[in-house]
Amino acid sequence: MLIARCDGHAPLPKHEHANGHQTAASSVLQLSSKGTQRDATTKWEALRDEILKCQRCPLARSRTNAAPGAGPTDAALMIIGEAPGRQEDMEGQPFVGAAGRLLTTLLEGAGIERGSVFITNVVKCRPPENRPPDPTERDACHPFLLQQLELIKPKIVCLAGRVPAEVFLGPQVSMSTMHGRSYEREGRTCFVIYHPAAGLYTQALVDVMKEDMSCLKSLLGQGTSGLTEARDGQQSLTKFFGKPTKT
Ligand code: URA
Repeated sequence: MLIARCDGHAPLPKHEHANGHQTAASSVLQLSSKGTQRDATTKWEALRDEILKCQRCPLARSRTNAAPGAGPTDAALMIIGEAPGRQEDMEGQPFVGAAGRLLTTLLEGAGIERGSVFITNVVKCRPPENRPPDPTERDACHPFLLQQLELIKPKIVCLAGRVPAEVFLGPQVSMSTMHGRSYEREGRTCFVIYHPAAGLYTQALVDVMKEDMSCLKSLLGQGTSGLTEARDGQQSLTKFFGKPTKT
């Protein structure tokens, strides 16, 4: 398992070769990846319809709309939050309330277009009073999240807040030590950030979140080969997650 932090190297532009040329082989690859892309979009539409009708847990009875997720099915970055809030429940879209607006500002401030990101939540329906989703609700919704990951195959999965971090990294997460770092889990590169709502309540966290976002942006450009081993905090994290792998 890798526990790492970005090293700030300038990223290569997405989909461009280091020498800037496109080869014949790569245009053939592009054609077939368009086919695969259409396939992913069709599958996503079917999955979205299934989520919209889902009755797997009691949240189905209190929701106005499920918010399955939004974004391109070839997104390199998937952001996973906790659960829809009031605005998301009304619109059936993830992160469209105050926390969502801060998320957009943070993304765009780091040079990541919100429209290029696939955004979803651990559970797709709003828990009453915005309480954290309970284990039964998380479990009921988990297959949807796994299907989204399987379809989109993001290069980086960004875990926004404690709930998604617990789902992917285990129950002993400490946001204060784990934010701004990446973790290799079951073949996925997971990057932890504070939940955007935290920045609405604690202004001082916004600067930390800005730093984490630019770290995420570098990571997106570099891929995992541009990572350096974690510095401080590594030992205590190792206790929870096993031995980190050097990159
Ligand atoms: N908080 C979340 O975790 N997700 C949303 O979609 C909105 C607020």
